[in-house]
Amino acid sequence: MELYEVLKNRRSVRKYNNEDVGADKLEKVLEAARIAPSWSNQQCWTFIVVRDPEKKKKLAESMPENNPARKAVGETAPVVLVLCADPAESGKQDDKEYYLLDAGLAMQQLMLAAHAEGLGTCWVAWFDEDKAREACSVPEDQRIVGLTPLGVPEKQPSEKPRKDLKEIVYAEEWGNPL
Ligand SMILES: Cc1cc2nc3c(=O)[nH]c(=O)nc-3n(C[C@H](O)[C@H](O)[C@H](O)COP(=O)(O)O)c2cc1C
Repeated sequence: MELYEVLKNRRSVRKYNNEDVGADKLEKVLEAARIAPSWSNQQCWTFIVVRDPEKKKKLAESMPENNPARKAVGETAPVVLVLCADPAESGKQDDKEYYLLDAGLAMQQLMLAAHAEGLGTCWVAWFDEDKAREACSVPEDQRIVGLTPLGVPEKQPSEKPRKDLKEIVYAEEWGNPL
């Protein structure tokens, strides 16, 4: 699939059909995350691949009941990926913690690759970290940055609105239209 097509058509998918995710596709999307850029190339992230229904249920229970991705994580997606990051393996500059960016980039690469492979994903950051930590025995020195369900979308969700370019781009100085 062409890159711009992937960028344009990726969606947050919260409904999955019952098809499994094969090992080959799983490896491809994890490989896309593996090659992401990072602070000083320190690659502070780790993914936990969860297929066990009990663990998925526990991860869903770490999410508020009104999190719209809760059912996908707990029931419908065959795989849930838990994105962990070690802040000590990344940098901090002017109070900006770059482990969040490193991990986010790895996740985004994974999500784009998943879309190219016909798979759906959905960023999940609205969850109780302690409960998610317990579900997957994640050590205390790791932060859990996000989760995503991974599976075959039931259908392509509609496009969400975005700001116009003129609202997010200035020329040369803050406030100057391009
Ligand atoms: C950092 C981050 C956290 C998010 N957390 C959640 C979440 O907890 N639950 C959920 O259903 N969607 C979550 N989303 C998905 C957003 O709602 C979604 O990306 C946005 O509405 C745009 O839709 P699209 O991804 O289909 O373009 C999150 C997205 C990001 C980037």
